[in-house]
Amino acid sequence: MTRMHVAGSIHADVTSAAPQWLVKPSDANALTDGLWSGSAARVGEGELELGGMSVGDIVAETGTPAYIIDEVDFRARALTWREAFAGWKVYYAGKSFLCGAVARWIDEEGLNLDVCSLGELTVALRAGFDPQRIGLHGNNKSDDLLRVALARGVGRIIVDSSDEIARLERITEELGVRAQVLIRVTTGVEAHTHEYIATAHEDQKFGFSIAGGQALVAMVRCHGSARIDLMGIHSHIGSQIFDTNGFEVAARRTLKLMSQFKEATGVALPELDLGGGFGIAYTMDDSPATAYDLARGLDEIIEHECRGFGLERPTLSIEPGRAISGPPGTALYTVGTTKIVELGGGQTRRYVSVDGGMSDNIRPALYAAEYSAVLANRVSDAPVALSRVVGLHCEGGDILVRDVFLPADVAVGDIIAVPASGAYSRSMASNYNHTPRPPVLSVRDGRLTPMIRRETLDDLLALDAGLDR
Ligand code: LLP
Repeated sequence: MTRMHVAGSIHADVTSAAPQWLVKPSDANALTDGLWSGSAARVGEGELELGGMSVGDIVAETGTPAYIIDEVDFRARALTWREAFAGWKVYYAGKSFLCGAVARWIDEEGLNLDVCSLGELTVALRAGFDPQRIGLHGNNKSDDLLRVALARGVGRIIVDSSDEIARLERITEELGVRAQVLIRVTTGVEAHTHEYIATAHEDQKFGFSIAGGQALVAMVRCHGSARIDLMGIHSHIGSQIFDTNGFEVAARRTLKLMSQFKEATGVALPELDLGGGFGIAYTMDDSPATAYDLARGLDEIIEHECRGFGLERPTLSIEPGRAISGPPGTALYTVGTTKIVELGGGQTRRYVSVDGGMSDNIRPALYAAEYSAVLANRVSDAPVALSRVVGLHCEGGDILVRDVFLPADVAVGDIIAVPASGAYSRSMASNYNHTPRPPVLSVRDGRLTPMIRRETLDDLLALDAGLDR
């Protein structure tokens, strides 16, 4: 995708080794608006502070790499989504980041919870989350997963295949319970996002196709089942989406399907879930809509489409994940080496290697996701240098921040902070190169509280059946 440079083409030529969207800052120490958690600020001599605690103190207490979650900011975002979408059910998408503390925060802020694996469901249940307020996703839910969900009374199961309907009928029978389900449909929407995170086009693994007719067939089958209560339908068009266009098409197609179902059976289904996917700012190039603007836009769309199809407005839900968990999180790394690489034409790039990498944030390698970064433990008045923040893994694609202007004197031992790191970073982390995964800590009122402890080499070695211990 080519993008015009926001400052015009002449400016773009001057920094041609940088992408067009990246504006050379007049002050590389500045915290770009909209990227950071609410409490992030430069204090004293210019050190970054999060949740009332300086980065130096945070690192002294917990080391790096580490994920720091601003608790007040996380809770505020959860509440904002709930309030902006008043009258809707808001399910926090746990896949973006879930642990015991997050499940409790989501509960306390009055949101519902969306899980998609036995692991996520178990975390939620162990944290004491009300099963009735949990929604369960997944295109290949195992018998074990469905058994736990049904036995514990999970409020809604989002059904993804005919095999799953058969499995649900068998297990509900076995347990003597009923299942409340939504049918996951593919609306054929081509969302404007990376191919791997778009989920409503036809050629992918999720859901029942509306266009192909399978969605209606599945709905009629569930409606006729003695063990299944069909509540409605579900559509998720993809992730990191910035406008309501895709949602508009999805709403039109899902409501049309609901009206067809009503014609066929005489029953108006009470629920419609439009999924998650609301984009956040990772760089100065991103300008997401507010939850309030999105709510207004979606309300208008629903109103209009319901009128068109002669339907009562169903109970609506959304499933924001990243929009709640992303911005409150900051990743902290320590610089281990730096290197200047000649790019030709007199241009250079500084490689800043830190003590994490693709094992704790796979998103740049997987989706070409862009991030931002600052020098966090101090400010610098050195000239800015086009830099690339890379990890410690044995792979050229091990990039954390592809393009960023950092002060040219960033040196060994400095701390680099990467904002908007709370979603899909720790939750997608791996042990590539036998690297232990970083801890997650919340910060609030100048104090850190562990959320997930740092993994140790002993944790990893304990899995290896071929080593003496
Ligand atoms: N609902 C459903 C059914 C989903 O599949 C997802 C994300 C969400 C809600 C939440 O989407 P969010 O609001 O967080 O964008 N790992 C990728 C994104 C794929 C997420 C898959 N499903 C990433 O790092 O961007």
